[in-house]
Amino acid sequence: MGSGSVMKTVKGVEIRPFVVGDIERVHEIETAVYPTPWSTRVFQDELSAPGRTYLVGESDGRVIGFGGLMVISDEAHITTVAVDPDARGAGVGKCLMLRLAEAAIDMGGSSLTLEVRVSNEAARRLYGRFGMAPVGLRKRYYGDEDALIMWVHDIDGEDYRERLDELWGEL
Ligand SMILES: CC(C)(COP(=O)(O)OP(=O)(O)OC[C@H]1O[C@@H](n2cnc3c(N)ncnc32)[C@H](O)[C@@H]1OP(=O)(O)O)[C@@H](O)C(=O)NCCC(=O)NCCS
Repeated sequence: MGSGSVMKTVKGVEIRPFVVGDIERVHEIETAVYPTPWSTRVFQDELSAPGRTYLVGESDGRVIGFGGLMVISDEAHITTVAVDPDARGAGVGKCLMLRLAEAAIDMGGSSLTLEVRVSNEAARRLYGRFGMAPVGLRKRYYGDEDALIMWVHDIDGEDYRERLDELWGEL
């Protein structure tokens, strides 16, 4: 792990493991943010499933964002990332992604992938900062819209470590 990442976070925001007691508040953000939100049951199942890392960002004792990762073999899938609309634009999403990317590497991942709505420019730009490039479409993945499939490879190499350290430096 690079020196830049040690304990650093957005000022006043703690990134910590997502625990069962956070589900209610996370679900509140989820329903405010997504047209077809995950149920609390899906979060429960995800938190106890193998090969997962789920994190929350907390400020003044209140969860303001969350994100998750599923690692299968050497492929790490970002399953979700969301920040409370009132807390956006302050680096919380970037911080969650940094910690998820590092967790992916720690869990043996060598590539990182996800699906994102084609129209979701903020998220696409965030993932682009992490070197993720569009490689294809999943038609009607969201029912009303296609998903763009994004990938970045060699996240376990030195070049990627440098990229993460640069992103940490921006916080
Ligand atoms: C995408 C999301 C998680 C970003 O969270 P955030 O905390 O506001 O993001 P940050 O402040 O950390 O910004 C990180 C990067 O995201 C991109 N970004 C964030 N908001 C943006 C916006 N409004 N327009 C364009 N790019 C944006 C930028 O690249 C930014 O970094 P940079 O300015 O240094 O380039 C947030 O907008 C969100 O929760 N959206 C709804 C849920 C969602 O769409 N999740 C992704 C599903 S695949």
